[in-house]
Amino acid sequence: MRSQKIEEKIRELKEKENAIILAHNYQRPEVQLIADYLGDSLDLARRSAKVDCKLIVFAGVKFMAEMAAILNPERTVLMPDLTAGCPLAEQLSAQAVREAKQRHPNAAVVLYVNTLAEAKAEADVCCTSANAAQIVNALDEDEVLFGPDHNLAWYTQRRSNKHVVPLPERGYCYVHRMFQAADIARLKEEYPDAEVLVHPECDPEVQKLAGHICSTSQMMTRAKASHAKRFIIGTEIGMVERLRREFPDKEFIPALETAICEDMKKHTLEKIYLTLRDRKNIVRVPPRIAGRARAAIERMLELSGRAARD
Ligand code: 13P
Ligand code: SF4
Repeated sequence: MRSQKIEEKIRELKEKENAIILAHNYQRPEVQLIADYLGDSLDLARRSAKVDCKLIVFAGVKFMAEMAAILNPERTVLMPDLTAGCPLAEQLSAQAVREAKQRHPNAAVVLYVNTLAEAKAEADVCCTSANAAQIVNALDEDEVLFGPDHNLAWYTQRRSNKHVVPLPERGYCYVHRMFQAADIARLKEEYPDAEVLVHPECDPEVQKLAGHICSTSQMMTRAKASHAKRFIIGTEIGMVERLRREFPDKEFIPALETAICEDMKKHTLEKIYLTLRDRKNIVRVPPRIAGRARAAIERMLELSGRAARD
């Protein structure tokens, strides 16, 4: 099936089924283009909290689609490929969170949204890369159990006077761990006029070389606001593709061409079409877990929205 044809069929089906497509910034360019809404984890959580449709097709990894399902118990959430998971999220079990809570009875539990739904059910509040420091600083507790990404925990610790305890000790994203400080330093020498934007899942040595440490959507905001004409980008390649498309008069240099999240790339136009046509790949979260996870996600949206208003 030619890609133009598939796009038309997807649009027809979307209308017929009263569906919308939400997609993460790391999706393939053709999937980004068919999406009704494209964003980072926080944008997508906010968006899915106020959709007005019957069906949501979620082109992102499983924890993102689960959040949409948790926030929309009355709607059906479908994933073009149900096997698109996040290996970082797999690194923290609900049992590990319960055990850590016993060791740190006075600590608040702040979990990155890149977690399994059953781990979220154990959290006091969730956070994303866009609001981690804001959320931690809004809490009353002095000690915070923070997981599963230990680089994001390091980033958050530097912006807070709380005691941030990473959980597990060394959880990481394999994609962001590929970035090397030596590569960034070399690119900075080659392009001295470039601004360096990196994701907080990168190693501390990489973060230290950056001008701005941003969630993926914050990279869009920075690229728009900055007077710089050239940027070195330290995150997954899909983000570079979006930046290039939306700011054609600026230059975006990937810090690593091979930084590809295999799971994010599992969704294709063909799979989106088949999912919508057959209403298959329903994302389900057991109600007992969903209720508790929802409280942690909603608290994040509340604290994050409140800080934005203040
Ligand atoms: P963002 O929330 O910044 O889009 O990041 C999500 C993610 O999975 C990063 O690897
Ligand atoms: Fe998970 Fe890393 Fe992929 Fe983001 S880039 S979804 S953290 S594996």
